[in-house]
Amino acid sequence: MSETAKITVEGKTYELPVTTGSEQEKAIDISKLRALSGYITIDTGFKNTGSTKSAITFLDGEKGILRYRGYPIEQLADNAEFLEVAYLLVYGELPTKAEYTLFKESITHHTLVHEDMRQFLEAYPAKAHPMGIMAASLCTLSTFYPESQDPARPTEAIDLTIHRLIAKIPTLAAWAYKNAMRHPLMYPLNKFEYCENFLYMMFANPSEKYYADPVIVSALNKLLILHADHEQNCSASTVRIVGSSQANLYASISAGVSALWGPLHGGANQAVIEMLETIKNDGGGLDKWVQKAKDKNDPFRLMGFGHRVYKNFDPRAKIIKKAADDVLSKLGVVDPVLDIAKELEEVALNDQYFIDRGLYPNVDFYSGIIYRALGIPTEMFTVMFALGRLPGWIAQWKEMMEDNQPIGRPRQIYTGENERDFTPLEKR
Ligand code: CMC
Repeated sequence: MSETAKITVEGKTYELPVTTGSEQEKAIDISKLRALSGYITIDTGFKNTGSTKSAITFLDGEKGILRYRGYPIEQLADNAEFLEVAYLLVYGELPTKAEYTLFKESITHHTLVHEDMRQFLEAYPAKAHPMGIMAASLCTLSTFYPESQDPARPTEAIDLTIHRLIAKIPTLAAWAYKNAMRHPLMYPLNKFEYCENFLYMMFANPSEKYYADPVIVSALNKLLILHADHEQNCSASTVRIVGSSQANLYASISAGVSALWGPLHGGANQAVIEMLETIKNDGGGLDKWVQKAKDKNDPFRLMGFGHRVYKNFDPRAKIIKKAADDVLSKLGVVDPVLDIAKELEEVALNDQYFIDRGLYPNVDFYSGIIYRALGIPTEMFTVMFALGRLPGWIAQWKEMMEDNQPIGRPRQIYTGENERDFTPLEKR
């Protein structure tokens, strides 16, 4: 007999079905609860609410496990190419050699961005944050491909949009950066692989021959893989909920970029480096900052610490910490900020406040240090996260559409005024 859960309210007991996932995680299905009892459930911030079933990413926050489509993140980060992982997330299986060749050819074919996009770009102020430009440009792409706005698209049209997005996001990101510097834009050079092409568009200039350091290419590949998906986080849930209204994929991804921008989510990587630099400029003493982070009357938090689901360690942070050491030593970079980061990690990990709350360095704690070593400016860090996360957002959107999920529309418990009569302005 299948398992059920019982809920008793106002003396009446209701039996609700239990759902079990492939890793034995369990959920009580409350979808009929209101119809049966008149009650809804409330869970601000969705701390205990599963918004969907999903076959894309499994993570176990207690054990520090992260797998894409069953493959451990450690194996993918060490052995795969980012586009291979993108294919895996979006289409569910690792590509065969033939499938991978075709996929890469298609991505390479679409790297160019319509020339008219330059006019939008050039209109932004030089100080425009590149995440604002990214969100706007990705949504603007939909206007160049009006057929993508039709919700009843055939599979080939969806695939074309997916390939265009993956192909064009590095071009848009590099252009946002070059434009801020008022440097000439570099067009994609399709003899290069994905990561190398991005670095070329970021760092080459028209008058010099470009060479990408393989250490940098490989570090970038790893970072993009580590960020590629993270199940129902803030931005993925945003992409799903926007997509559930049948808004087009470009608009849904653009919404994901906006959600990622915040410092509590992807924007943390920028915030971490800014925090470490503030600590360094303040003399490097850590006590004051740790005390501030613990003080409930002080809004300061240790950026790069804590995670909604990881309470023992973030497996991505473990890989990134090692990669940061490797990259810095291979490139011969000495970064005092890395020393402060290591000290801070040590202090926080031994402090009872952080121990009691399960606050560990997350993926963003060390990623900024590698990005700095690769020459990527601080304001571009969250854009780098978006580049990596794109295939995950696409996979989440695709799964939601293929499962024919209903429009996302939570309920609420109203706490405002009860009915009252309108008073005309002259009487107020
Ligand atoms: N520094 C100090 N205290 C913290 C921190 C922190 N970084 N994070 C959580 N806490 C405390 C918080 O004050 C609360 O304490 P108490 O129980 O006494 O009220 C307790 O820990 C639980 O915090 P919470 O805010 O309820 O936890 P959450 O699961 O809602 O938030 C988080 C998770 C990531 C938003 C939060 O830990 C945070 O703000 N961290 C800093 C920002 C950051 O690094 N974000 C990147 C996350 S990883 C990249 C990604 O996937 O987005």
